[in-house]
Amino acid sequence: MIIAVDGPAAAGKGTIARALARHFGFHFLDTGSLYRMVGLAAIRAGGEPITAEAAIAAAKSLDPSRFTDSELRNEKVGDAASIAAVIPEVRAALLDLQRDFARKPPGAVLDGRDIGTVVCPDADAKLFITARAEVRARRRQMELGSADYEAVLADIRARDERDSKRATAPLVAAADAVVLDTSEMDIAAAVEAAIAAVVAVELKGRI
Ligand code: CDP
Repeated sequence: MIIAVDGPAAAGKGTIARALARHFGFHFLDTGSLYRMVGLAAIRAGGEPITAEAAIAAAKSLDPSRFTDSELRNEKVGDAASIAAVIPEVRAALLDLQRDFARKPPGAVLDGRDIGTVVCPDADAKLFITARAEVRARRRQMELGSADYEAVLADIRARDERDSKRATAPLVAAADAVVLDTSEMDIAAAVEAAIAAVVAVELKGRI
């Protein structure tokens, strides 16, 4: 079974996807971390702003053991990831890796931007997690321990724009995705709603 969890930055999809994987006993892949690795490797190779050549080379020779979680989770790397993610060759280089992971028995949860639309269009359940940009900026500000709310909001808006407008695999809800707006939900409520949505889709599939 494959569960696809997509949505914009800081909507809560990582937390929800992890909780779904734990609940159903499935494997979990944060596909954003792959793009972040590419972004960071491109920065290491050629500095900023990253070049397309550096990003493509990084994606083709990606070695996840060369990165730690803490160095991947900052806005500089997030921005480099979103710039690299626009490049079709980068996306193509990461496709097999994601699809191989998705096939792991007994099931897998993948979170990202294009899981339900491009990576696993046949996923058994698709969720699109969203929230208002202002709410997402507050959450990201708390996560980063950053003082500057306006700067975080501007960054979220810039990333939304770049992710949604790119030609290859733009951020968009799959036609058959369940859309979950978490603006007014805490983590427990969002996780509960996501589990209920997956169970409902599963039951519908059996009838
Ligand atoms: O945590 P946050 O949502 O801010 O970012 P992320 O999920 O770690 O992804 C970082 C960047 O990678 C995003 O802004 C996207 O541009 C890109 N990405 C993508 O294009 N496709 C995916 N499946 C996952 C991430």
